[in-house]
Amino acid sequence: MCGIVGYIGEKQAYPILIKGLQRLEYRGYDSAGVALLNGDLNIYKKSGKVAELENFVKEKDISGTMGVAHTRWATHGEPNDINAHPHFSQSKDIAIIHNGIIENYSVLKDELLNRGYKFTSNTDSEVLIHLIDDIQKNEKVNLAQAVRITLNQVIGAYAIVVISKNEPDKLVAAKKGSPLVIGIGNGDFYIASDATPIVEYTKNVVYLNDYEIAVIKKNGNLDIRTTKNEKHTPYIQKLELNLSQLQKEGFEHFMLKEIYEQPRSIKDSLRGRLNVNKGLVFLGGIADYEQKLINAEKIVIIACGTSWHAGLVGEYLLEDIARVPVEVEYASEFRYRNSVVSENDVFIAISQSGETADTIAAIELAQSKGATVLGICNVVGSTIARITDAGSYTHAGPEIGVASTKAFTAQVTILTLMALMIAKKRGSISTSKFHQLITELEGIPDKVEKTLKASNIVEAIAEKFKYAKNFLYLGRGYNFPVALEGALKLKEISYIHAEGYPAAEMKHGPIALIDENMPVVFIAPKTGLYEKVKSNIEEVKSRKGVIIAIVTEGDTDIKKIADYTVEIPQTEAMFVPLLSTIPLQILSYHIAVMRNCNVDQPRNLAKSVTVE
Ligand code: F6R
Repeated sequence: MCGIVGYIGEKQAYPILIKGLQRLEYRGYDSAGVALLNGDLNIYKKSGKVAELENFVKEKDISGTMGVAHTRWATHGEPNDINAHPHFSQSKDIAIIHNGIIENYSVLKDELLNRGYKFTSNTDSEVLIHLIDDIQKNEKVNLAQAVRITLNQVIGAYAIVVISKNEPDKLVAAKKGSPLVIGIGNGDFYIASDATPIVEYTKNVVYLNDYEIAVIKKNGNLDIRTTKNEKHTPYIQKLELNLSQLQKEGFEHFMLKEIYEQPRSIKDSLRGRLNVNKGLVFLGGIADYEQKLINAEKIVIIACGTSWHAGLVGEYLLEDIARVPVEVEYASEFRYRNSVVSENDVFIAISQSGETADTIAAIELAQSKGATVLGICNVVGSTIARITDAGSYTHAGPEIGVASTKAFTAQVTILTLMALMIAKKRGSISTSKFHQLITELEGIPDKVEKTLKASNIVEAIAEKFKYAKNFLYLGRGYNFPVALEGALKLKEISYIHAEGYPAAEMKHGPIALIDENMPVVFIAPKTGLYEKVKSNIEEVKSRKGVIIAIVTEGDTDIKKIADYTVEIPQTEAMFVPLLSTIPLQILSYHIAVMRNCNVDQPRNLAKSVTVE
């Protein structure tokens, strides 16, 4: 939610800042703005996408070797030019960009209004700049000191960068709850919400920690102190990210590229963790916690959205083969309910971005009650990766399309490895079954590749249903979470109302919706509950519902009753979600394209939900 970028050095800042905003646009795209310092402090901002800002600044003075920029996902105040960041102080000497929410902004705002400050926007962020300005004036302190005093009065989450005309040799950045990375260049610095705007200039980065304030100077000096003014030595890390991972590489959309990357991304999730010859599953990142997992009284999975769906697949996997009781919790619910947590519980937090505010709060709560929390994250160095006790990266590579695709299958892959690892250690499956399963798992990337070949068939189905008003997705067992995920994908990128349900639950209500205008997507592979799902299909058919079925290749029975079928390769029941999800991703992609929707940046959404 909101992307922030900063630059200070000898190069022209504007091209770096705009390119950075384009990379961060997935975090929010309601409005964008830039502040450039070149003697004068100039701010340009515009509602809409970064491209609108680029049009707006044509003919304007965009010179300057330092500046800050912002792409917004609105929380307080509608998306318009005025609420766009950066925000100026009244004297127009200082400007700020902010990602997060200032929870006590109205108290602070009232105080500032009483002291004569005039607010131009409806944002919570604007209080920060007037407060910094006020403190500088009244306490005669420098910018960094004023930022520190301000942040000690603030409740909420923030990543900020402040620029001042009166101290033209520095940027001041700080964070709590929202991410901030500083790239250390060749005598210059790059600041951003994540490493994607930085990677093309430097691989050396410092991830700022909560309550740290960085004074980043033009002379190459980086000073990091806490909000209590204790000095911290910057911990420099090397980025593993490559520039090519951030480009579309010939695909029309990032989402399509990411769907097609899945054979590779699943392989990368398995790499070094699965050795069929030696009969081994090894997750190095959680090796120290293996025993804890094996002895866990209960595993609690916490996540949001698509990651929560992956968690639900995890519940089926872990209970099925590892025989450990599992609960799957929405992080946003868990954090506020009075749940019972024991020190012997192991939590698994799943997050693509590693920055989801509710998931972070749920982790902190579980840790405060003495539980061990392991992470499954995609973004290396993200907050969740850092605050969990240990974890496994999914290694899916950057996911830029706002709708999550390859991250989901990578998360399910890691959960599969965990379930197999625990099952083997607990002896809950036989050695021969374990061997059979890991051999099959190794072949899954090839089966995903084969599944992708059905994309023409799926595209033709999309053409038939592009104007549908509603969709129902039904599946059972391992494919119930897939039904939820299929419905979510369609909703978020095509704006068609869709619901996912366990197929048998249909009779308890949703069946009332079935008529000749209701497309029903059944995930009906030839595994466990096949016959039961077939009966559910018959029930829909007899009420004139239109049936699209995902079936195992060679299935002839369902082909006779369904209106449309898409085949996936045969596999073990527990691996089916890794295949059955793919046609559903492709279906929603094509329907969205045919409806002229913005596939990579659907309305109202943002990739990282860093506010609760
Ligand atoms: C859906 C989607 C969201 C995210 C959710 C959690 O396509 O992308 O539902 O899955 O916001 O995000 P992470 O996984 O980053 O914690």
